[in-house]
This record gives sequence, C-alpha cells and structure tokens, in this order.
Amino acid sequence: MLRGLFRTKSLDDILAVAGGPQFSLKRTLGAFNVTLLGIGAIIGAGIFATVGTAAAGDAQRPGAGPSLMLSFVITAVVCGFTALCYAEFASMVPISGSAYTYSYSTLGELVAWIIGWDLIIEYAVGNIAVAISWANYFRTLMGNLGVHIPAWLATDYRTALSLRAANPAGFAEQFGGAPHLFGYPIIFNLLALGIVALITVVLVWGIKESAEFNAGMVLIKIAVLLFFIGISLYYVSPKQMTANWHPFQPNGWHGTFTGAALVFFAYIGFDAVSTVAEECKNPARDLPIGIIASLIVCTVLYVVVGAVFAGLIPYSELVTKLTTEQAEPLTMALDRVAPAGTTWPSTIVAFGSVIAHTAVLLVFQLGQPRIFFSMARDGLLPSKFASVHPRFKTPHVTTILTGVFVGVFAAFASIDEVIDLTNIGTLFAFILVCAGIIVLRYKDPARVRPFRVPLGPWLFPVLGVVSCFFLMFYLPPASWWRFIGWLMLGFSIYLSYGYTRSAVGAKLGRPTRAPAPLKVAALGFLLVAIGLFTIPHDLGPTALVQAATDAAADRHERALYGLIIIVIGLVMGIAGASIGAPRDAGGAAANAG
Ligand code: ALA
Repeated sequence: MLRGLFRTKSLDDILAVAGGPQFSLKRTLGAFNVTLLGIGAIIGAGIFATVGTAAAGDAQRPGAGPSLMLSFVITAVVCGFTALCYAEFASMVPISGSAYTYSYSTLGELVAWIIGWDLIIEYAVGNIAVAISWANYFRTLMGNLGVHIPAWLATDYRTALSLRAANPAGFAEQFGGAPHLFGYPIIFNLLALGIVALITVVLVWGIKESAEFNAGMVLIKIAVLLFFIGISLYYVSPKQMTANWHPFQPNGWHGTFTGAALVFFAYIGFDAVSTVAEECKNPARDLPIGIIASLIVCTVLYVVVGAVFAGLIPYSELVTKLTTEQAEPLTMALDRVAPAGTTWPSTIVAFGSVIAHTAVLLVFQLGQPRIFFSMARDGLLPSKFASVHPRFKTPHVTTILTGVFVGVFAAFASIDEVIDLTNIGTLFAFILVCAGIIVLRYKDPARVRPFRVPLGPWLFPVLGVVSCFFLMFYLPPASWWRFIGWLMLGFSIYLSYGYTRSAVGAKLGRPTRAPAPLKVAALGFLLVAIGLFTIPHDLGPTALVQAATDAAADRHERALYGLIIIVIGLVMGIAGASIGAPRDAGGAAANAG
C-alpha cells in the first residue's frame, strides 16, 4: 500500500492557507443570500423533469406511481441526515471546497482526492442534466410564444435515435427538417450549450452580481411552483385527485424506493452552498442556516407538487407517455387538464421552469470552480486552477474550464443517464461527509463547533451513511459501472500527478516526479476505467460474467474485452502501487508520526 495516503491536513493549516492574501475571495454574502443560493441550487430539473420518470418508471426501473409523494419524503429524510452533517462541517471549516475540504481534514488525502473528483459528478455532470432539461423547457416556452426552435438544435443525437426506434412517425415529424452531413442528420443541443456559455460569462463577471441575479430567480420559481399547485387545484377537484392516487403504490415499495433514488436529484444543491463559505460575511452562522432552511422549504414544496402531479394524471395513462413527453411532466400534466386550447397555464409553468433551471445552473457552475480552486491550492491540481481574476476577484480559469466541459457534454449527452450518474456520485460524497463527522468528533474533540449535529456523533451520521447506501442500491447498474469507472480514472490521475505534487506530500518528502512503478499503477487504473466504460452498462455483475463467458450471448465481445481490460488493469494497478510503496520513505515516516 502507498504510504501517506491517509495523511490528513490539519484544520488550522487549511484555515490559515485560505486566509492568505493571494487566494482570498470577496466576502459579500449573508444568511438570507445563502438560503436563496441553496433554494436556487435545489429547485430545478429534479422537480420539473424527473418526476415523470420517477412516477411512471422506464425500461430500467419500476415507477413509484402516486407514491411519488412518499418518495419525496423518504429522500428528504435521507438528505436531512446529511444536511446536519454538512452544517456542522461548514460552520467549523468555513472555507470553499465543501466535502473535499472536510474529508482532507478527517479522512486524509486519498479520500479527499476521491471526494473532490467525485464532486465533479455532482456539480459539473449534474449541470449537464440541468442544461439539457433547461433546453427542453425553453423550447416549449418559445413554442407557446410562437417562436419555433427546431428540435434538432435542442436534443441530443441518442435521444433522437431512441425516439426513432419507439415512434418513427414522431421522429420524422420532429427531426425531418434536420440538415444532413455524409447522410447522417445533424442533431445536437445548441440551446443547452448556449445557456451554459451565458452563465459562464455571468460568473466570471462576479459573485455579488451573481447572487443578486439568483435571488430574483428564486422568488420567481417559488411563485411558479405555487401557481402550478393552485391552478391544478382549480382545474381538478380534490375528490378527483385522490381518486387518481389509486393504486397508490402500483409497483410496491420497490417502485417507491426507486422513485426516491431518482428524485434525489431534485434535492441536490443544499450542500452546494458550502462552497461559497469564503464569500460569506459570517460563515459559522450563515452556512448552517442556509443549508437547513433551504432544504426545509424545498421539501414542503416538493411533496405538495408530487401529490398534485400524481392527482392530475392517472398512473395508467402516465405509463403510456413517451420518454420525450416525460421530459416536461408538469406542463404535460397541466395541458391535459386545462380546457382545450388553453395554453397560458403551461406557458407560465414553462417560464418558471426556465428560471428555476437557470438558477440551478448558476449555483453549480459557481460551486464547481471553487472546488477545483481548493484542490489546486492543495497542489492536487495545477496551480493555475487557483488563480483569481485581478479585477473581478473570481476563479476565472476554473470557471471557464467548467463552462467548456459542461457545455460540450450538454450538447451531446442524454439526460436520464446523466441524472443517474449524478445521483450515485453525490450519494457517495454524502456518505463520506457523514463518516467524516464521526471521525473528527473523536480526532479533534476540542475544536469549536458553532453548529453540532444533535444527539451525539453517531446517531444521525450513521443514519446518513446507511440511508445514502440504501438509495444508491436502487439506482440502475449503468450508473454503478460509470461511477466506478470515473473513480478509477480519478485514481489514475492522482497517482500520476496529485500524489507527487500535493502540498502535504511535499512536506512528507515524496518524490517530485512520479516514479516508474507509480506510472505503471496509474496506467493500470486507467485501463480499469477504460474496461468499465467498455462493458455493456445495463448488465449487472452476474449477467456481465455470463455474457463474457457465453460466445452466443448478446454483446459477448464487449463484455469479454471489457472484463479482460479490467483484469489486466487491476493487476498492473495493484502491482505498481505495491512496488512503489517502499520508496515513499518520507510518507512512511510522516504517517507514523
Ligand atoms: N437539485 C437540482 C435540480 O433539481 C440539481 O436541478
């Protein structure tokens, strides 16, 4: 085993470096701004786009049906455990970097790297989904206002192909006008790319302007969700709604829990506010208030919206809707109950949805660069990532990089897959944060904790860990394979770069360049990642081994070659890491101390 990997960074060091003049950010935010940032991050694609699939299910999962409202409650409880842990950490370590920073101080460098890498899934990959969903609603809104944006500029290629398979006539109607190149239709999501570019410009411009922009959008989106509830109750009587709630759990508890795992996406974001700690006037007070208040407000809204949505459209009818129709469930349901030809209610909801999505994009595009910023400050990423713009005082390099990454993938990725991946990555980060609370209460009991998780260090953090695992279990195999592949890719980068460049590693006397065995290990883990991205992702472990060993099986070659690459990679990775270990004498000494 490599040594020094679990070396932690002392909280005093972390706080001292963050206070250094060359890395400081402007402190302009109060508790109210932070709560608004939280709500801005939370209410978005989750409530406006995932409820359709969560209620109806799809080829990969059973639907929750009307028990969707219960799914929202279950997920809120899971997030509540984690929110308490985030609040304790954020008040104690009030600097940017979120779970990454917390785990560096508790579980050590390797875990911190894993978390930092994992948070890219939550922030950047999550925003890919939000940008795609934004594009759907924006196009509908424009269509209702009489401006037609062609579907081929607002859809990814694979979603269009799946529509062609399910409904060739619908495909021809929507994409028939697409230009062709070498015989293939040109289909990509220019709208999603465009909104990400715009947000990136706003964020490079400055945090204060961005927070005010966000506050206005949050007020509008709460009003629009209330409008959805009100107008639905106007069109459909409570009696009819409750009639539509039967059968309540058409797929039993499995459907309800699977729905909970999917709508988890709707709650992601309460943790994102911790990334602006260095921009808060009084982070020890503002952060716990912001995290917990925003989670409570959103939970109440979600449960009511979930109940109303399930009351508008019976489950039996919902399951007959196509994936493309499910992508905008709230306007679809409203159009169903409004009198024929009345589109203004769905136009208002589409407008609010566009605003909601924009606010989410803003907070996550704001959070991701700050995590990169913290990692660069620790030497785990190139120092260029930690540079602050001389005039705007924002981390402009990482903001632009994040914008390019999110924008490009948003143009080509399919939303469902991106949401599942985001959920699993975020749940994993939450698990490490909850575990970190327990570790730090024992390692550093005397530290001042302006906010403490109630009832001791065990009860809520352990419930947080267990409940997050529980939700992960209900996510499809594809998200597991991709998630593990992503972690392996991160491990490879850490061994070839971060391990030798880290500020903590320099103090431990690690070599400044990766020695050959570490390079072999890094290559090995890269191969594992490639293998994991190669195998057919919809197969579980048993089905995968069967497909690899049965020459007649569907996708036999992909399964076989993928598994072979994984095994070769694992052997190289473990061997390289084991041989490289004894040379890290500095790490050994420090680790012992
Ligand atoms: N919670 C955020 C959303 O639903 C990610 O868009």
